[in-house]
Amino acid sequence: MAPGNSLSTFGAGKVILLGEHSVVYGHPALAGPLSQGVKARGVPAKKCQLVLPSTLNRAQRTLLQGAFSRAAKLVGEPPVKVSLDPELPLAVGLGSSAALSVACARMLLLAAGKPPSSKEAARLAWAMEQEFHGTPSGVDHTTSAEEQLLLYRKQPGASSVGKGKTVESPRALKVVVALAGERSPTKKTVAALRQRQARWPERYQRIFKEMGKLASEGAKAVEAGDLEALGDAMNVNQGLLSALGLSSTPLEEMVYRLRSLGALGAKLTGAGGDGGAVVGLFTDPESAVVQLTRQGVRCFSSQLAGPRAS
Ligand code: MEV
Repeated sequence: MAPGNSLSTFGAGKVILLGEHSVVYGHPALAGPLSQGVKARGVPAKKCQLVLPSTLNRAQRTLLQGAFSRAAKLVGEPPVKVSLDPELPLAVGLGSSAALSVACARMLLLAAGKPPSSKEAARLAWAMEQEFHGTPSGVDHTTSAEEQLLLYRKQPGASSVGKGKTVESPRALKVVVALAGERSPTKKTVAALRQRQARWPERYQRIFKEMGKLASEGAKAVEAGDLEALGDAMNVNQGLLSALGLSSTPLEEMVYRLRSLGALGAKLTGAGGDGGAVVGLFTDPESAVVQLTRQGVRCFSSQLAGPRAS
């Protein structure tokens, strides 16, 4: 890096429209990038270092430092001091760790004089994501790095990453994301589900398979511009997530709240559990955001795909 220069990078947050959890077991998931994410800034320094955000607790700081060091080593520890600016609420199921990994990966690649292509950024971010989540499916960081609506599928093998196929949308795909309750860590929710499915594998596999089918049908509905069909798949998916024990009173209440405000479909997004994020598909998200904000709900809107108003 030339002295005096500074670099900026971005990693997008994500929402899973269909297929969280079943994606861990090899079924497809439909996920899109949020316009909100994590920004990174890099300035020349004597050694490669990360300035840890003061908002993180001790455990989060240790985890982030370890993940950053792992990625930095893979690109020869370029002499850059990286600071982060998260625009997303952290640890609520909106892919903040993936966004942070992608922003850091792009920064490390740029500082090492390598092109920060989405493929390379995803490869490096994957090393960080494994530190954060153990054995993630890879849907979060792939969606963040590609910044496209993807039908994503994990490759067979516990620690292997998967592939995403871009899903084109002829219509603007707009969502409202609303937060409800206190969220349990993804690692914990995924591990608890793993125990239940190990005990009753056939029952759980049936549900995972159906969730995968909904994701594929949802992708087709997007391509056909049929938002009503996509919304219906989301509602059915919510029922199955609830059947898997991944929903809770705060999440269910928020799902019904979004539906009563006109969502074509609404469901929890991310790991679920005691609380977290709920996503609703809307043709007019702004009026829902105004009403929810008035009611004291933390929420925002985002367009995941399709033509944008100029
Ligand atoms: C978390 O955003 C999504 C999960 O399916 C976990 C994963 O895919 O690794 C719950």
